[in-house]
Amino acid sequence: VALPSPPPPLYPSFYARAPKDILPQLKFPSGFKFGVATAAYQVEGAVKNEGKGPTVWDWNSRQPGGVLDNTTGDVVDLQYFLYKEDVVRVAALGVNAHSFSISWARIFPFGTADSPVNQVGLKHYSDLIDYHIQHGVAPVATLFHWDTPLALSAYYGGFTSPHAVDDFIHYAKTVFAAYNGRVKTWYTFNEPRVFCGQTAAYPFNVSLAPGVNSSTAPYQCAYNVLKAHAGAVKAFRQMKIQGEIALKNDDFIGIPWRSNNSEDSLAVERHAAFQLGSFSDPLYTTGDWPKIMTDTLPPDFLPRFTEQEKKDNLGSADFFAIDSYREQFVAAPPDGIEACVSNSSHPLWPACNTVVLFDSNAGWAAGISPDPLSETWLQATPNTLRSFLKGLQTRWPTKKMYISEFGLDEPFENLRTEMFQITEDVARTNYYMTYLGQILLSIHEDGVPIMGAFAWAMIDNAEWNSGLSAKFGIQHVNYTTLERTYKRSALSLSEFFQSHLQN
Ligand code: NOJ
Repeated sequence: VALPSPPPPLYPSFYARAPKDILPQLKFPSGFKFGVATAAYQVEGAVKNEGKGPTVWDWNSRQPGGVLDNTTGDVVDLQYFLYKEDVVRVAALGVNAHSFSISWARIFPFGTADSPVNQVGLKHYSDLIDYHIQHGVAPVATLFHWDTPLALSAYYGGFTSPHAVDDFIHYAKTVFAAYNGRVKTWYTFNEPRVFCGQTAAYPFNVSLAPGVNSSTAPYQCAYNVLKAHAGAVKAFRQMKIQGEIALKNDDFIGIPWRSNNSEDSLAVERHAAFQLGSFSDPLYTTGDWPKIMTDTLPPDFLPRFTEQEKKDNLGSADFFAIDSYREQFVAAPPDGIEACVSNSSHPLWPACNTVVLFDSNAGWAAGISPDPLSETWLQATPNTLRSFLKGLQTRWPTKKMYISEFGLDEPFENLRTEMFQITEDVARTNYYMTYLGQILLSIHEDGVPIMGAFAWAMIDNAEWNSGLSAKFGIQHVNYTTLERTYKRSALSLSEFFQSHLQN
């Protein structure tokens, strides 16, 4: 069924830059984190070194068709051994925070709470943390960035099983105790919505053991992840660990495809509830799933929280972290929401919405289309950032917000072959400059309490199923020599922060 005609333009031009006369005067608040981000599997390499156990991604990357270009995590940037070089290089840019992840399988090679700790792995991150601190780069640690120890996947299906909850909490406590006082900002989970969604979506399933029901798996996973998160945060507070803790959210709220159309507005609400809301309502507003979810999905699909679990969920985050890449139109399904909900094949993520992709001129005209030089699967839309951040703050109010990741995949950047080899990443540079201007306006004009922004990524890396074909780095990596070189975007980010940080 054809979709109705597109909405009228919202913005006059593609890049809505901050006004030139105002921008130079705007400063980031003091204590603002100018950060870069990475994740263990994507940059570390050394997957068989120093006692690390295999993870689901070590397995997945070895399956035929598991990763587009057959990239494994075996070497990639070899940051496990080259982290000193990487810390120094970003410190030289003025970066004052690095959000990285700890690989669970380096600490517990077999994953379970009753298996031994790998002391060498524990010491590795201890050294890495110290090195960051010595160079003025605050270590920001994520406990779980999708690399489930393979043993846990094989034993019980990873986070589709309630057993993962206790094993994760045990791992979290071990790490909290080891790095207490040195890491001051923590995340339990990276993008659980994406991770749990994968349980059903991936052809070579990275979370499921054979026999797990794939239509209920995303919901079982979400429930177990939230219990593991709340349990870890409870332990964090009982152990009086210094600092702040939350999880990293992703996704967008959505803009109704047709303005003043109640079906499309409802579709936006459904989208916001089933996606961002499924992890944010429990933490920030009600302790429970959004009502629209419990109204739609029976308990055998969507496990219900007990009263105690709701209490544990609510308030289990000290700030709101959003990996903010894109905004999209959302339209009602052509056959109507009622038909969609009553159709038993439908009560799956993403729950009866049609998310409109920008493959037409409509998005361009509306100014919320992706950058023309970027890959289209992850649609960077800096123009809608302000309204999105405001929307987050309205729905899930918080005292502090981090843009825990933002970035652009620009596969056609141009590596110059001169002596200093600056990669001219025009689209990415444009994107970052626009985005940072919007963040400043968001802080000063809209009162959104943004206290940090982390560029994804510190360096080019293994982009999950896309392997090395996707390019998100602000530094280029030569995959023969492993030499790193700055891209134009890194230098521009550095300049922007130098001129907009408080003295
Ligand atoms: C978010 C994920 O956390 C990260 O692992 C991924 O590489 C980026 N998005 C880009 O897709």
